[in-house]
Amino acid sequence: MNEPPARPPAEPVCSPTAAVSSRTDPEAAVRVWRGLAGTSVLLDGFHALKHALRFAARVPVALTADRRAALALADELAPDVRDALDALLVEVSDARLRDLVPRPHPTSVAALAVRPSREANLRALARTPRSAPVVVLDDPRNLGNAGAVIRLAAGFGATGVVTTGTLDPWHPTVVRGGAGLHFATAVERTAAGELPSGPLFALDPEGEDIRGVALPDDAVLAFGSERSGLSAGLRSRADHLVSLPMRPQVSSYNLATSVAMTLFHWSTATSTAVGTVTPPAGD
Ligand SMILES: C[S@@+](CC[C@H](N)C(=O)[O-])C[C@H]1O[C@@H](n2cnc3c(N)ncnc32)[C@H](O)[C@@H]1O
Repeated sequence: MNEPPARPPAEPVCSPTAAVSSRTDPEAAVRVWRGLAGTSVLLDGFHALKHALRFAARVPVALTADRRAALALADELAPDVRDALDALLVEVSDARLRDLVPRPHPTSVAALAVRPSREANLRALARTPRSAPVVVLDDPRNLGNAGAVIRLAAGFGATGVVTTGTLDPWHPTVVRGGAGLHFATAVERTAAGELPSGPLFALDPEGEDIRGVALPDDAVLAFGSERSGLSAGLRSRADHLVSLPMRPQVSSYNLATSVAMTLFHWSTATSTAVGTVTPPAGD
């Protein structure tokens, strides 16, 4: 598999002393949690934590109501991060976990990670030459769709996901949908007029059939809102309007599935797209 795109460096979070004492002392871990919860990214469940660790997220605190079960899951599904989990996971009571995380994931694992800085993400998005596209969601409305798109972008090794409009792509529901993979790509919201440079391919059912279009590695791939499609401004700035094949009488595809088809199309024609498939390690 290719190297993942350059990621913004994570920022320091808490003192090493706090991290060490919290590992052995559940109450200290809970204090660290309470101190960071308001400004950190909630990793909800084993798989989100696993992905975040694989992509070098800074995780100052990770809690579980069943350490043995969590490490058994790591043995089975993620031996590559087993040692990191062993060092991080602090066992707390089920009641305590519920107190900190209103609806704990069925794996009884929750962690807090440091959100990469906006400046670092913008630098990663602006870096050229680019070896994989940037996905733009033009005023998306559905948090689950945004999470699914970030997961796709991570899987295909896209440079990043940029949103315009009011949706926060780091909203907890988006992070949940992204399965901890926000850390595998650069995710930011920007103004519609400040998109990364590169040829702008806007996806629209009225465009040219994508099967005859080669998407370059430096493409900026733009997708419209679930409600109203592409905004007039973005459509007018597009270098190419491209469509996904669809039989008559079907109005449109779901936003995330449109991104999936488009990234897949890019991946089949480029040498820099993901080359091998990592064995599945849980969902
Ligand atoms: C759910 S669709 C938007 C539907 C919206 N009601 C409209 O009027 O366009 C969300 C986005 O997915 C992409 N999309 C969906 N179906 C597509 C297709 N057949 N070809 C190209 N893009 C498509 C477009 O970018 C679209 O704006």
